[in-house]
Amino acid sequence: MATRMKILRTIADLYAWRSAQKEAHRPIALVPTMGALHEGHLSLIRRAKQEADAILVSIFVNPIQFGPKEDLDKYPRDFEGDCKKAESAGASAVFAPTPEEMYPEGFQTHVSVGPLSECLCGKSRPTHFGGVCTVVLKLFLASGCDIALFGQKDYQQYQVITRMVKDLHVPVKLISCPIVREADGLALSSRNTYLTADARKAALSLPRALDAVADAWSKGERNLKVLLQPVGDAIAKAGGRLDYAEIRTAEGLKEFGEKADCDAVLAAAAVFDGVRLIDNRLLRF
Ligand code: PAJ
Repeated sequence: MATRMKILRTIADLYAWRSAQKEAHRPIALVPTMGALHEGHLSLIRRAKQEADAILVSIFVNPIQFGPKEDLDKYPRDFEGDCKKAESAGASAVFAPTPEEMYPEGFQTHVSVGPLSECLCGKSRPTHFGGVCTVVLKLFLASGCDIALFGQKDYQQYQVITRMVKDLHVPVKLISCPIVREADGLALSSRNTYLTADARKAALSLPRALDAVADAWSKGERNLKVLLQPVGDAIAKAGGRLDYAEIRTAEGLKEFGEKADCDAVLAAAAVFDGVRLIDNRLLRF
């Protein structure tokens, strides 16, 4: 009979759960999330089941990765619904601490990753990736996970975490999982719930614009200006505002010269009626 999913609220709970897994020689896979779980998150949990025996899902809206004008207070929260979804996807335990548990009085140690966290989303969110890396490293250390799974949806996040794991000799194997999309192509995101019906329609211009670039790339176009030029117009025409659209090296997010000459990632962020969405496409050379 399947055992019921455990709900862990404190670091002490997490240590006890982790010890039980280690004693039973069950490898631990961690799926870090901020909750409001959707099929994108659940795809990571299902994949984790193929990789390890003990599946830990963290649900924590991490205050230190939000800027002062960002949506921390209104970020969607549905703890009961999340637990049901996590359990049905195969989670063994959910770790859902309070902000005070993660950042008690006196907390002052942060992880900072260099230039990788300053480009793309880092330009408009300068403190974001430091906050992500700090919480992710804390979760890795406290859970003792062997494996951790992330979505390709947050491409830069995965690159930054990969760099941190390498630089700090963190013994965790990282797995990147494909982007899960709505039937019409919009990438699933907890923030999609903020979109009005009109903004939801406009938001479709983001994946469509990226599709058009990927199409031109598949036909052999490699000139960055030519590839990227139509993106801003397509999004503006739909009523959105492009924050950035860039093509960089798939590994390490390095800038190209005039033309791309190896595997690349096309990454973009755009704002629709105040809601900022990101998306990306891998472009194989
Ligand atoms: P969150 O936005 O909740 O995402 C949790 C994980 O789900 C991330 O690895 C993200 O890339 C993945 N994900 C989100 N939407 C997806 C989609 N449509 N398809 C596939 N995977 C998707 O990312 C975070 O939380 C936080 O920054 C976190 C890493 C938890 C640190 O606080």
